[in-house]
Amino acid sequence: MKVPAYDYVVLGSGIAGLTFALHAAGHGRVLVLCKTALSDTNTAQAQGGIAAVLDPADSFEQHVQDTLEAGAGLCDEAAVRHMVQEAPTAIRWLQGMAVAFDEAETGEMELGLEGGHSHHRIVHVKDHTGRSIQQALEQAVLQHPNVSVWEHQMGIELLTDSSSTGTFCYGVQVLDTHTRELRSLQAQAVVLATGGSGRVYQYTTNPSIATGDGLAMAARAGAAIRNMEFFQFHPTALNQPGEEVFLISEALRGAGAELVLPDGSHFMHLYHPLESLAPRDIVARAVLSEIQRHQSPCLYLDVRHLPAGQVRQNFTSIYHKCSTMGIDVEQQLIPIVPAAHYQCGGVQTDLNGRTSINRLYAIGEVACTGVHGANRLASNSLLEGVVFARNAAAHVASLSASEKIWVAPDAPVHCFGSLTEDILLDVNDLRIRLQRLMWERVGIVRTKEGMENCLAALAKLQIEVDTIRERAGDHQEVLELQNLMTVASCILRASLERKENVGGHFVEETAVISLPL
Ligand code: SIN
Repeated sequence: MKVPAYDYVVLGSGIAGLTFALHAAGHGRVLVLCKTALSDTNTAQAQGGIAAVLDPADSFEQHVQDTLEAGAGLCDEAAVRHMVQEAPTAIRWLQGMAVAFDEAETGEMELGLEGGHSHHRIVHVKDHTGRSIQQALEQAVLQHPNVSVWEHQMGIELLTDSSSTGTFCYGVQVLDTHTRELRSLQAQAVVLATGGSGRVYQYTTNPSIATGDGLAMAARAGAAIRNMEFFQFHPTALNQPGEEVFLISEALRGAGAELVLPDGSHFMHLYHPLESLAPRDIVARAVLSEIQRHQSPCLYLDVRHLPAGQVRQNFTSIYHKCSTMGIDVEQQLIPIVPAAHYQCGGVQTDLNGRTSINRLYAIGEVACTGVHGANRLASNSLLEGVVFARNAAAHVASLSASEKIWVAPDAPVHCFGSLTEDILLDVNDLRIRLQRLMWERVGIVRTKEGMENCLAALAKLQIEVDTIRERAGDHQEVLELQNLMTVASCILRASLERKENVGGHFVEETAVISLPL
């Protein structure tokens, strides 16, 4: 395939990647690379919504304070203030892209409530906000003459060089996972919008693509990474053992759902005055602790007291999912367990998405802009994706001609070696062992001994992963495993370095049972 020249290469097609593409396309040619299909993103699965101050009775200051409080004192306040102030503009831009947020009878946007928010301020499209945003942005991108989309392209390594002014990124090496062609793409700026890394854990709300590829590439290239100890666990994933995890949105609790014990009694008042709507880290630990205390496989959400038809009308995906499992939510409790949900840390950036490597940008969940601190406030993540993607697009436009480089692209080479069934089995086995290790040792509640034990176990796993990489060559499954190992190491090392319990990082000094590896 002949490769035309692009000014900006974006890895990832969720809200951040597509927002960047649509803005940057005003001043350059943009190539969006998708690891699988264009619509296979974390964004498409987001149920909740986007937080923004739109009610005159609300204020920027309250949204800022709620975000800082959830972040447990570790947010970058300037970044938080910037994001909160930009939120109404971000929402208007999305509406301009044809995202039809739900409206109340007054004709104003309907504002929902989620944990940690002191005011109703979540705009949403029923309980499939992310999917509606994804579809709208895809339409716009596919129609834009300056944006190209390539599916089934996995970034492998960033192309970097060093000069007296520091390290700079001039492109990315990419694997076409269908044709198995490997090519080096060069660009004026490379933008990581690859999302999170929930698949490093045994149980996660994240889709299978969330293997931390962008974070791992940036880490290997030497970019500054921060706050990786703060992985957010969502307290309410549907308990359906053996199935893909399905999220029960916090918006359901915002609408009145209550967390209850197996006997139907309330317990959250014992943990926080905001009860079922306390900050997410507190709720997740409370749920885990009660599961253990009651030796129950799960706890429950109770929506039976809500007006008849409310869940069916306003939470269509959740209602449908529960129905297919034989749960009549108006009569029965919804079984829930916690699951890994959001990477609060990531590749360190400034307000323009700039990383510590020149001309490498990071936006969305892969980035650590500082707005989430030790624990993300619900529905701030889609917002962060839009606000900082817009900033990054404005910033790349300001790269001066003398800073820009252009070199003719290399011809692609074909990767040899096939992924035999034996290798695939080994890869899957290693991945399961890694995910279990991370869940047990560096999960919702950690111990020092467990984390130290994990360090040794990860080192042993790494030897096996390296051997597989040598045997198999460049295949998506192997590369993802390698990236998950890098992410695991970042989370573990950051957790060992963090000396105090704060936000999503909680160390309890009790021994854990050794896991056979
Ligand atoms: C949810 O709908 O509960 C998730 C929303 C979020 O993670 O912000």
